[in-house]
Amino acid sequence: MRRPFVAGNWKMHKTAAEAAEFVGRLAAHVPAEVDVGLCPPYTALAEAAAAAAGLRIAIYAQNMHQAPGGAYTGEISAEMILDTGANGVLIGHSERRQLFGETDEGVNAKLAVAHDAGLWAIVAVGETDAEREAGETEARLETQVARGLAGIAAPQLADVTVAYEPVWAIGTGRTATPELAQAAHAHIRAVLAGLFGDEAAQAVRIQYGGSVKPDNAAELFAQPDIDGGLIGGASLAVDDFAAIAAAAAPRS
Ligand code: PGA
Repeated sequence: MRRPFVAGNWKMHKTAAEAAEFVGRLAAHVPAEVDVGLCPPYTALAEAAAAAAGLRIAIYAQNMHQAPGGAYTGEISAEMILDTGANGVLIGHSERRQLFGETDEGVNAKLAVAHDAGLWAIVAVGETDAEREAGETEARLETQVARGLAGIAAPQLADVTVAYEPVWAIGTGRTATPELAQAAHAHIRAVLAGLFGDEAAQAVRIQYGGSVKPDNAAELFAQPDIDGGLIGGASLAVDDFAAIAAAAAPRS
């Protein structure tokens, strides 16, 4: 009942022209049963959104600032993202948390602003290697979900996707096993059920991210609580990303 959702996080890659060309080539490979999104860098948002107009490809910014405007050198607002024609925003990616000091409270503030602006959101959570080794994975995920989504009303969850991205699996080639990922996803869904009720939690899509490739995507997406993926490195090539999107289509 949850439509699979596969999104590509390009990080600091691709010019505006490259983004538009990618969208044009991807268009022929969007599976009917799968929602597809791309997160280009800010400088390519407008061209990507223009190229995606009328296609089933959603465009997400990789971050934003929660203030409507002001003295925040280097930042952009929800209104500016909307102005590019983009549809959503990725919030709380682990690189934002680890390299740029993003907190759960900041994630929460951004999520509220994104919702008010009418932007869809992907909220990323995930434990570090040290947290997993210390047996703190479940507690860490619970904290990130509870604080990140605090104050959100259950109906607003319809516009929110959660991405489970174990930090140790991002860009390392160390993909989580399908069983380990499924356990984390089930835990996140249980936390959501405790916060928002079972019905709302069952409707939320939870993506897996961390070294998803064409050859491991299908077994991850076959898990009952894994509803697609957030793809970094493998989203930079149209063929690889299209193969991963195809792997998310429900099997009859
Ligand atoms: P990766 O990145 O697929 O390159 O591991 C995933 C992400 O950071 O979203």
